[in-house]
Amino acid sequence: MTEQVDIHKCLFPVAGYGTRFLPATKAMPKEMLPIVDKPLIQYGVEEAMEAGLYSMGFITGRGKRAIADHFDTSFELEQQIQGTSKESYLTDIRNVMDSCDFIFMRQREMLGLGHAILTGEPIIGHEAFAVLLADDLCATPESGGKRALGQLVELYRKHQCTIVAIEEVPADATGSYGVISGEEIEPDIYRVTDMVEKPKPEDAPSNLAIIGRYVLTPDIFEYLRNTPPGANGEVQITDAIRAMAQEKPVLAVKFKGHRFDCGSIAGYVEATNYYFKKQYG
Ligand code: UTP
Repeated sequence: MTEQVDIHKCLFPVAGYGTRFLPATKAMPKEMLPIVDKPLIQYGVEEAMEAGLYSMGFITGRGKRAIADHFDTSFELEQQIQGTSKESYLTDIRNVMDSCDFIFMRQREMLGLGHAILTGEPIIGHEAFAVLLADDLCATPESGGKRALGQLVELYRKHQCTIVAIEEVPADATGSYGVISGEEIEPDIYRVTDMVEKPKPEDAPSNLAIIGRYVLTPDIFEYLRNTPPGANGEVQITDAIRAMAQEKPVLAVKFKGHRFDCGSIAGYVEATNYYFKKQYG
């Protein structure tokens, strides 16, 4: 019997320019944009904690220091509000800081998501790991239970292979996503047979789009090293997972819970309204 391997680390690629939010993202990372009163990246880290992961690796770039500062103590501020009612605003972030380790590495050139993940190899080593794109904000399912990453990690514990999160998108939206084709082996779980990055609707093998949650086995780094730059001259994670799927099991799961595309203005506003209503009625 093969030994069960657990998963502890989550990688956050946050080096992108966030051009769709310019000028807001000219001097501020997109991942620091708040949804109500909490930055996107903190929602992501909290989702990883809920999945049982406490070692957080960030692939950052120039102009992203605010992310490291957010997960560090702010002495002046904390001294200023110590003992006042405002201290309660820091409860959640203090809990995150006390519970997790944070490691930061820089991607020196923006050569794509696949390249960003490969940059994180020294953080990960030879373990399976999660990847979370914080601009996809996944809400707790209405029926309860864990958010998307927790669902993937549970499935990983059972299947011990690479798993991607998917959702059905309108047929005319496939050009914004990696799209899979696969065979449904259990309700909502597919064994991936192929995937294509940003296909035109007429070329898309399905309307099952990959969103920003992955569990990857460490052999992904070898596939990434052998992946030539694809669409836009970037190294695509989709191409590397596609190569892997041709040689070994790769699963895709339709996760439960709503996903907000906070990389787009419309999705960001939708998420803001949703969380505002949730917090303030
Ligand atoms: P996006 O395609 O959403 O790009 O990257 P972006 O720069 O964040 O946003 P726009 O499209 O310009 O508005 C998907 C994810 O991959 C990361 C981004 O930070 C984002 O989380 N990424 C992308 C990197 O870390 N490095 C890269 O070279 C490219």
